Amino acid sequence: MRRLQAAGLAWLLALAGTASADELGRKVFTEAAQPPCALCHTLEAAGATGTIGPSLDELKPDKARVMEAVRTGIGVMPRFADQLSEQQIEAVADFVAKAVSGR
Ligand code: HEC
Repeated sequence: MRRLQAAGLAWLLALAGTASADELGRKVFTEAAQPPCALCHTLEAAGATGTIGPSLDELKPDKARVMEAVRTGIGVMPRFADQLSEQQIEAVADFVAKAVSGR
């Protein structure tokens, strides 16, 4: 019985962890990054309709590709490595990759 409760609790915590990482990723996308990703990119999951950069819904980048672009910048997209924490970069990459993979 005790063990079952522990398992249930671990599951709940894991769920809460996922939700908040997702929330953090969305927040970085729409407001924390300056300028925000949403200004330049379309991403339905974030309610973003920017058109300066490619539509991420169409490009469907995986997590590694998003992290690379955010860390180093690409073309007119600025690099965010000095501005966002590793945790924020990881969260936004995860958020985008999950959103466009339909999971
Ligand atoms: C000032 C506008 C602007 C902002 C802000 C911006 N981007 Fe971009 N982004 C672009 C442009 C333009 C490109 C295409 C660059 C090229 O291919 O020359 C791009 C490309 C990308 C790519 C594709 C990279 C590849 O490998 O082809 C990803 C993924 C991406 N951006 C994610 C993000 C995320 C996440 C953020 C927020 C942290 C962000 N962008 C903020 C303009 C922007």
